[in-house]
Amino acid sequence: MTKDHRSLIAGNWKMYKGPSEAAAFCAELREADLGDVDVVVCPPYASLETAVRSLADTEIGVFAQNCHWEREGAYTGEVSAPMLQELGVYGTIIGHSERRQYFGETDESVGRRVAAALAAGLHVIACVGETEAQREAGETEDVLRRQLAVLEADDNLLIAYEPVWAIGTGKTATPETAQEAHAFIKSLLDLPVLYGGSVKPENAAELAAQPDIDGALVGGASLDVESFGTICRAASDS
Ligand code: PGA
Repeated sequence: MTKDHRSLIAGNWKMYKGPSEAAAFCAELREADLGDVDVVVCPPYASLETAVRSLADTEIGVFAQNCHWEREGAYTGEVSAPMLQELGVYGTIIGHSERRQYFGETDESVGRRVAAALAAGLHVIACVGETEAQREAGETEDVLRRQLAVLEADDNLLIAYEPVWAIGTGKTATPETAQEAHAFIKSLLDLPVLYGGSVKPENAAELAAQPDIDGALVGGASLDVESFGTICRAASDS
């Protein structure tokens, strides 16, 4: 199945890899065969500068994992879009389910962060997805509709569908389940949609082969160049 744009494979490092590990990873990534896909890495804030420098003359982009809606202010622990841009960061993830679950991120704050990041010229991967209880209660579409309602289509915006029950659990959504959710998301917002949740070298190709899966947001399996590279090549072949 051919799609009208290249797949994007994004590696979400979460709270892994300080600057020295990031430098070693990026040096190895530069030499890896990544196939014909767009590739980005999303290091923690402390390693962004190292990653930008290490990947400067490559096609690999560097994204942050979050970004505040104000340019500056009394917001202890937060980082703004202009600060990320000054570092040479290309975009940011917003609204990851771990932010929603553990750090009080709401649909409203996600909407504000996304709008500010886009207005500043960053690319954004906005994350949506239902919990296991919501899926079992038949609420998946309502949850996605509510999470997407705070977003507006934009050339620099991508959605990541990450069912919470599949993140870090080894329980990947079947390609059919993911495809169904992606098609529903696209019926509400006409944007590329990445799949996230236990993407691994073994399942990347069948997920990427689905018509409405435009790439992957990879957590655990992105921390190792060999498995991340295998995922990139698998998505490239589909
Ligand atoms: P996982 O994480 O691949 O480790 O399940 C995905 C994510 O949280 O983006």
